[in-house]
Amino acid sequence: MTSCEPITESIFYVGVNDRQTDLFESLWPLPDGIAYNSYLIRDEKVALIDAVKGSFSLELLEKIRAVLGPSGKVDYLVINHMEPDHSGAIGMLCAVFPEIKIVGNKKTLAMLKQFHSVGDNVVEVDEKEPLSLGRHRLSFHLIPMVHWPETMVTYEPTEKVLFSGDAFGSYGVFSGGLFDDHLDLSLFDDEALRYYANIVGAFSAFVQKALAKVRTLDLSILCPSHGPVWRKNPGYVIERYDEWSRQAGRRGAFVAYGSMYGQTAQLAEAVGQALVSSGVDEVVIRDTARTHPSYLLRDAWRYRGLALAGCTYDMGLFPPLEAFVALLVSKKVKNKTLGLCGSYSWSRGIVLKKLKEVAAAQGWQCVEPEVEIYGVLSEEALAKARELGGNLAESLA
Ligand code: FEO
Repeated sequence: MTSCEPITESIFYVGVNDRQTDLFESLWPLPDGIAYNSYLIRDEKVALIDAVKGSFSLELLEKIRAVLGPSGKVDYLVINHMEPDHSGAIGMLCAVFPEIKIVGNKKTLAMLKQFHSVGDNVVEVDEKEPLSLGRHRLSFHLIPMVHWPETMVTYEPTEKVLFSGDAFGSYGVFSGGLFDDHLDLSLFDDEALRYYANIVGAFSAFVQKALAKVRTLDLSILCPSHGPVWRKNPGYVIERYDEWSRQAGRRGAFVAYGSMYGQTAQLAEAVGQALVSSGVDEVVIRDTARTHPSYLLRDAWRYRGLALAGCTYDMGLFPPLEAFVALLVSKKVKNKTLGLCGSYSWSRGIVLKKLKEVAAAQGWQCVEPEVEIYGVLSEEALAKARELGGNLAESLA
């Protein structure tokens, strides 16, 4: 998109598509890019809600000019969340609009002073006092740790619009249209859940608190800082966030394996086949050495069932599987029903011991039997893997 786009008669989309960044936060792949959503409210006073990454400052400015004209001024920049993908353009905005006031809560303003050279041109807001733009009025609602300490959302009651920052966001750029009206929800769910698991999921308890606040607001349009604008059915993405943050998990299973010479992979395949033949329709099997952890984490988040199959490496766990398991721990993945398989050449018991320690610490429930092979894959081991898959399926019923 090269032009601004109206959300309502007085609220405009002035965000940008980033198709250049390969890794979000230098961690998470962006095969379909990401959008930095920024919104301009035109009233007696003009407010910009969130900005964009610094390298897109000129594109943002062009869009602001397209709405306001060459001599138009921005009075307020509201920072819901000060991570640089939303605050990077502050320097440009302060230079072009020297009268602009940066609006943020106490924590935001303290952080902004560390990251950017903002001076006294700030307005500190809290949940009590709205900010009037004329016909529009902005109220501010703190949602700490979704996903930084300073995060808040901004609500405009006249048009019932919620500017939600990272909450309810997704990876992916806009391909022509901004709105959820024609969204393929299955495609959206894949990338939005990956975004959720990667970026927000570790703070799911805080998401639940944020949802309690959001549900008190009378809402027509939901404007996140990434991903689609929701005007047809904002409830859809709110319900997804509820589901994902409760970590209830769908009836299905993710089988993740690490295998050097293929024996452990065959165990994983046997578990997966038994799951399907026992009536579990949604089963995903992935090689941890060949799948980016971003996707592994998403698939683990999606399903209640989890099977981990790993070989030893040196005298420990196969490193890609070990890294994946560490990610599950750091992202506070909960409520898993777990099946375990391991293989070894000279370090008997290492894989299962390490995985069971993690399972106990995370409160995951393990399903019998454990499967362990010594060197060669036997028919007996395959039969046990199939039994494990069947029992895992039963536990998901
Ligand atoms: Fe989109 Fe947490 O920044």
